[in-house]
Amino acid sequence: MDLEEFRRHGHALVDWLADYHKTLAGRPVQAPTRPGEVRSILPAEPPEAPEAFEACIADLETIVAPNLSHWQHPRFFGYFPANALLAGVLGDLVSTGLGTVGLSWQSSPALSEVEEVVTDWVRKMVGLSPQWVGVISDTASTSTLVAMICARERTTDYGLAKGGLQAEGRPLVVYASAGSHSCVEKGALLAGFGRENIRMVPLDDRHGMRPEALQELIEQDIAAGLRPCAIAACVGGTATASIDPIREIADVARRHGLWLHVDAAMAGSAMILPECRWMWGGIEGADSVVINAHKWLGAPFDCSLYYVRDEQHLMRVMSTNPSFLQSSVDSHVRNLRDTGIPLGRRFRALKLWFLIREQGVSGLQARLRRDMANARRLARIVDATPDWKVVAPVHLQTVCIRHEPGDKAGDALDEYTRVWADAVNRSGEGYLTPAMVDGRWMVRISIGAPGTEWADVAAIWAAIQRHASASLKHAPPSLEAAGR
Ligand SMILES: Cc1ncc(COP(=O)(O)O)c(C=O)c1O
Repeated sequence: MDLEEFRRHGHALVDWLADYHKTLAGRPVQAPTRPGEVRSILPAEPPEAPEAFEACIADLETIVAPNLSHWQHPRFFGYFPANALLAGVLGDLVSTGLGTVGLSWQSSPALSEVEEVVTDWVRKMVGLSPQWVGVISDTASTSTLVAMICARERTTDYGLAKGGLQAEGRPLVVYASAGSHSCVEKGALLAGFGRENIRMVPLDDRHGMRPEALQELIEQDIAAGLRPCAIAACVGGTATASIDPIREIADVARRHGLWLHVDAAMAGSAMILPECRWMWGGIEGADSVVINAHKWLGAPFDCSLYYVRDEQHLMRVMSTNPSFLQSSVDSHVRNLRDTGIPLGRRFRALKLWFLIREQGVSGLQARLRRDMANARRLARIVDATPDWKVVAPVHLQTVCIRHEPGDKAGDALDEYTRVWADAVNRSGEGYLTPAMVDGRWMVRISIGAPGTEWADVAAIWAAIQRHASASLKHAPPSLEAAGR
């Protein structure tokens, strides 16, 4: 492809994307695709001869778009908002098009310094003190792994430079909120703690971690000769967007000298709203925090912000300094390779920089406030409808609901809940994700795609009621019988 062809195809692709977004609301939200269907229409062998690039663009319309579940659709209420606002999309295009790699400051000075400035903008936007320093990684899972490794190294006084965990006399223990995301357990496992040394701390009736239960578990472990090391708390838990009491947990961490990591992957975006900051009150007592700008804030996936209070510690744990990467300015700059696991990194800061500038802080705040107001309004309506329940507090934009008709309880209620949610998803009218809370299935309505207005929320509520009532009347096959 020469440059003039690149220009022509690039314009065509941006046009295609603009049309995709324009026609999004008319598409079924969940892909109607069967497993293996896309694979079956693609050639099994790579083309021997070059193809016209127009054929790739044509396949976007015929093969790709019809077989996607559309996360940017105004009636996408699944998982969490993973918004790709358009200024960020263009930033990502430029990041890829520049093809630059941030290994060291010298390898890409603008990449390094835009990242430093933009992470500091976000720090100010969410109200963290100047003691925090941020870096951008791909995902919260990576940031959480880094946090677990940093905790391990602080407790072992840099055991990695000696015999590692294998040389430790007493097993190190991690404490996580029982409502925490699976990436916390995965991070602790990959950091070498071992499943036997991960404690899930019980929750209170609002699904937040119970600090007194945490304290008890730590004391039991100390009495048993183990070595408490880290606590992973959560603001905006996965199932219900629950909130752990950070201030009380930070007190426990301080008393015992433990690392406190706060997973604010989802709720961190809401901290740009001063009225939401109570949710992480006491955050200054934490050691590390992760905020996914690629969720509700609107930077296209992937763009996860990891903040630490002790940058030197992070650098000491993560640094590598082979001769070919050394430069004469090393003592004056921050080399991004020393702040995380990969050696190189993409210019992820570009999309966040473009997004914040194009929206302004006030634009980002207005959208988040819209979504929270829609969630509260929906919760009021559901609560006022006979046999329908809001089953968890609505702190942010997630409304967790269940239909509890009198004749259904226990496993039959669970089955019915999953059947009607599946019916909504299969209809293409909206996309919902069921999840378990307190041992029973419920359905999460996660509001916050870029184009979701009240009319879309009202439409999904109408669809939910219609499909639930049809599922009750026609008793469709169970999910297992239907092979789903
Ligand atoms: C609270 C929370 N933590 C962590 C994650 C993991 O995010 P990522 O996909 O960036 O690893 C998610 C998203 O699914 C989440 O909601």
